[in-house]
Amino acid sequence: MTDPASRSPAPQFPALRMRRTRAAPWTRALHAENTLSPADLIWPIFVTEGTGVTDAIRTMPGVDRLSVDKLAAAARQAVGLGIPCIALFPNTQADRRSEDGAEALNPDNLVCRAIKALKDAEPGLGVLVDVALDPYTSHGHDGLMHDDGRILNDATVEVLVGQSLNQARAGADVIAPSDMMDGRVAAIRAGLEGEGFHDVQIMAYAAKYASAFYGPFRDAVGSGGYLKGDKKTYQMDPANSREAIREVALDIAEGADSVMVKPGMPYLDIIRMVRDRFDVPVFAYQVSGEYALIEAAVAAGVLDRDRAVLETLTGFKRAGCSGVLTYYAPLAAKLLQRG
Ligand code: PBG
Repeated sequence: MTDPASRSPAPQFPALRMRRTRAAPWTRALHAENTLSPADLIWPIFVTEGTGVTDAIRTMPGVDRLSVDKLAAAARQAVGLGIPCIALFPNTQADRRSEDGAEALNPDNLVCRAIKALKDAEPGLGVLVDVALDPYTSHGHDGLMHDDGRILNDATVEVLVGQSLNQARAGADVIAPSDMMDGRVAAIRAGLEGEGFHDVQIMAYAAKYASAFYGPFRDAVGSGGYLKGDKKTYQMDPANSREAIREVALDIAEGADSVMVKPGMPYLDIIRMVRDRFDVPVFAYQVSGEYALIEAAVAAGVLDRDRAVLETLTGFKRAGCSGVLTYYAPLAAKLLQRG
């Protein structure tokens, strides 16, 4: 139809037409306030024992556990796509899990072999490794458990320092404590300095909430079946935001190079608050349950995956993130390369 407005007289005042800057791709590109690039992405990968293994994760369709020999190809893929960093999560075999999680200190454990495989294949690729005992404990908790069921703080921190050093010796570039024990960042920083690992970064899971959205991850690393109770005595209450500010302030004071908010999508307000108050880089983790949520909607035919993924990741940038840990890293990087 012809546009009746084109015949109307010019308005007396400059018309506030917000749609002008949206009218064509060139002007939308020019006016974009935030941009997403493959360089914003950290790709979490699950590793498992064996050779030639690509093991599907039931609750995370499209994500596999890879054996160590498959990591070189993943490293090359990441570099080819412009993804700067991979995060590793081990699915420790049952007979290596114990009350005290001692396997975390084994220099030849699965994650240490995985770190070396990535570094051998692509020395320039960043390797981030979680610090927490849940892949190694027979009770599935991130810390040591007292006979009465309490998760011990200071005794756990000592083991976490050992775990961090073990992973740094294997070649990890970034140590990411996800355990939420008090005082662990300072202790890990001191441990790393003491062994000369001055350039190993700490990305603190600073505001990590006790969340339903970690369910598929626990399936992926095999800790879910073991977990006794919940993690509410150390992970944060989803009702709280001021407490997140205190957590972040502490981790910065203790020597964190960057901080993380986790989960991601339900906590964009926390990301924004942290960004506004502190001048450290902020990362978000778009966790396993967020991945599963989108995949379920795609499988049900109600969402367009590519668009939904890019929109959620752009949302993290808009909220103030420097980068995002996401299982969609390879897909998003491909979509962004295509333009
Ligand atoms: C381990 C850890 C968890 C995640 C990252 N590190 C699970 C948990 O705390 O129970 C969750 C990541 C995800 O859900 O994708 N401490």
